[in-house]
Amino acid sequence: MDRTTQTKKTQPERLNGVRGMNDVLPADEPLWRRFEDAVAGTMRAYGYSQIRTPIVEHTRLFVRGIGEVTDIVEKEMYSFTDSLNGEDLTLRPENTAGVVRAVIEHSLLYDGPKRLWYAGPMFRHERPQKGRYRQFHQVGAEALGMAGPDADAEVILLCQRLWDELGLEGVRLEINSLGASHERRAHREALIGYFEAHRDALDAEAQRRLHSNPLRILDTKNPAMQALAEQAPRLIDYLGPESLAHFERLQGLLRSQNLPFRINPRLVRGLDYYNLTVFEWVADVGGTALTVCGGGRYDPLVEMLGGKPAPACGFAIGVERVLELMRARGDAAAQPQCDVYVVHQGDETLDSALQAAERLRDAGLDVILHCGGGSFKSQFKRADTSGAQLAVIVGADELARGEASVKWLRSGQAGVAGPQQSVAIDRLAEVVVEAIVANQDNPEDPGQ
Ligand code: HAM
Repeated sequence: MDRTTQTKKTQPERLNGVRGMNDVLPADEPLWRRFEDAVAGTMRAYGYSQIRTPIVEHTRLFVRGIGEVTDIVEKEMYSFTDSLNGEDLTLRPENTAGVVRAVIEHSLLYDGPKRLWYAGPMFRHERPQKGRYRQFHQVGAEALGMAGPDADAEVILLCQRLWDELGLEGVRLEINSLGASHERRAHREALIGYFEAHRDALDAEAQRRLHSNPLRILDTKNPAMQALAEQAPRLIDYLGPESLAHFERLQGLLRSQNLPFRINPRLVRGLDYYNLTVFEWVADVGGTALTVCGGGRYDPLVEMLGGKPAPACGFAIGVERVLELMRARGDAAAQPQCDVYVVHQGDETLDSALQAAERLRDAGLDVILHCGGGSFKSQFKRADTSGAQLAVIVGADELARGEASVKWLRSGQAGVAGPQQSVAIDRLAEVVVEAIVANQDNPEDPGQ
């Protein structure tokens, strides 16, 4: 028998995450936090309350809400049958349907309109690439019970305020109107007639959609069909006076707030619940134009999901795409920060070190206590990479005198920068807080 195979231990297989589903590592956390804080503040500024709905919903909610002949429902949903009770369930690919379901189920519109927002993971089985993932995050807002273009303008202004808050420039607004259903029907007939007359020029997907969802052919990514799509009958020419008035009032409101926009007559959105206003915010992410936010009015949805008819509009932001913009702007992920790293001399000093760390935390400081022993030198190395401003040293001799030491840390010069100062252990928290406050006021002069 081969001796190497005889002695070789089989390693357990290393497990990786699912393709297109990413870990958010601690180094990225400050960037996420900055984004989430800006979102929470902006939503509050417009009177939106947060709603948290489940990640798993009944599959038929999305089939009915998003539409049977859409990319999402046809090929992108993570659907499964619950083996315990046979229910058909789906990981939410978006959250407008879920929010509307919750609004109806809990009669949230009983006392008037509601402004709601949400944040969380969504799931779509798409081909992963930069800015496109199978698990991604959305932040969305839904304004329910308001029919006028004022609500449309409000959700758009909210987005602009968020871009400003995050310091993002170059996020461009595109708008369009999808009109009312009878107007879309008339346009649809005209579209079918037009595409039928050019049947030879249609690709397989367009042929398949010709009668089920011809509007989506306008959204084609196929370069060979661009000219055909551009020449197609325009929905805007089929809008009646009411739809046009809504669209024009919205444009007037945006102009009055000096918010620039472009009318994109081919903007149709990939979900079937929209009517009247639709919009997208587009930005260049690493050289490619990507939609960082999409939304619009979806007046038919509440009734389609079994509620009393109620108008609504809203949007969802692709969080990963906005974070990419923030990164490109130079909002690098910051080093994790803490205030104090406590080093100590091993088992005989551990009780006191633990106690000192707790008292420092009582004083409102963020503290890492060194665990796992080791020399002072190796502990200082850890202290340096922790991002702490100060090290507290609990040594046996000092402890016998009722003292500990405080030492300033400077990145890259572990344990050598800044003076070391002995402090009575019962005054430790007070001295450390004072030193940190003084250093904030005069950062050039640590420890003075
Ligand atoms: P949506 O256009 O499907 O709309 O998605 C909104 C945004 O989510 C997109 O603009 C994009 O930034 C981001 N996104 C979508 N799919 C992915 C993906 N695979 N990877 C990364 N980011 C992605 C909706 O979901 C509607 N519920 C928006 C809405 C709310 N309409 C009215 N209210």
